[in-house]
Amino acid sequence: KPRLYSGMQPSADSLHAGNYIGALVQWKQMQEDYDAFFSVVDLHAITVPQDPAELREKTRRTAAQYIAAGIEPSRSTLYVQSHVPAHAQLAWVLNTITGFGEASRMTQFKDKSSRYGADATNVGLFAYPVLMAADILLYQTEVVPVGDDQRQHVELTRDLAERFNSRFGDTFTIPKAQIPADSARIYDLQTPESKMSKSAESPAGILWLLDEPKVTQKKIMRAVTDNEGVVAYDRENKPGVSNLMSMYSALTGASHEAIADEFAGRGYGDFKKAVAEVVVAEFEPVRSRALELLHDPAELDRLLAVNAARANEVAEATLAAVYERVGFLARA
Ligand code: TYM
Repeated sequence: KPRLYSGMQPSADSLHAGNYIGALVQWKQMQEDYDAFFSVVDLHAITVPQDPAELREKTRRTAAQYIAAGIEPSRSTLYVQSHVPAHAQLAWVLNTITGFGEASRMTQFKDKSSRYGADATNVGLFAYPVLMAADILLYQTEVVPVGDDQRQHVELTRDLAERFNSRFGDTFTIPKAQIPADSARIYDLQTPESKMSKSAESPAGILWLLDEPKVTQKKIMRAVTDNEGVVAYDRENKPGVSNLMSMYSALTGASHEAIADEFAGRGYGDFKKAVAEVVVAEFEPVRSRALELLHDPAELDRLLAVNAARANEVAEATLAAVYERVGFLARA
């Protein structure tokens, strides 16, 4: 089976609708046909300040949500990034073949460093995409299912893999991003011009996977739309309505045209009610399963340990090849 790799940061208590629709739904489907590795990327998470006790908890919660959403730890390798030391080790080597200018062009770094201010920005945040490249390349990955916001990082990963291969000899598989067409970007419900993000300004704009159904419903009913009253897809002029249509479409399989037809002559209220219904129906079983799993953290930790051992084996083999190629003296 071809190799697949993806991951998420444990940077909030809950994943949000963007993570779920933009990534997890694809992961679940693809794990059937791929030898899949899914990580909780705690090394990435600390590039912005984290409270240590909270980070531990968020890491478990993220893993629980993967499983609750249908990632099977007996079929896919679901593990915590820091449990596999090779990630940091390969990242160091890749840092040395990454251009300073090349790293400076990463838009996520530019966004985050401007948001946190120059003083709070750190070298880890700058090197973040190189660590992500290490994640992907360690597993000889062919496919990386991600949302649209990660496209540039996967491009960098390909560049680094090609550069390493041509300088030191064939070592890495060249990976490809797989980005879903429409659900690639889910937007904030209150400011539908910006993507739904864990660090959003208003909590009303984010749908958390672990929100109570009533809360989810309320947020959707209060989502910003426009005063045209027509359910039609137009990202430019109707970002709020278009975003709700994207979510509805991703969860029901209905096309934009079919949705427009279904709600022709009806108001936004009706449409929002329908969106809320499908979102709640989708999230509620995931939520209750995740909360159930979190009642037994020891069992969760055991699963993560077993999976980390599997990940380590694959990662160690790649790292050993890299160390040999770059000329490190083998440990006797
Ligand atoms: P992260 O944790 O920000 O997001 C996890 C996944 O969710 C997708 N996503 C979205 N999709 C649609 N709409 C949105 N509003 C939205 N917000 C987030 C992201 O595209 C991603 O697929 N750097 C990565 C984590 C990472 C990784 C990797 C991914 C580290 N190493 C190796 C793939 C392979 C990140 O910060 O994702």
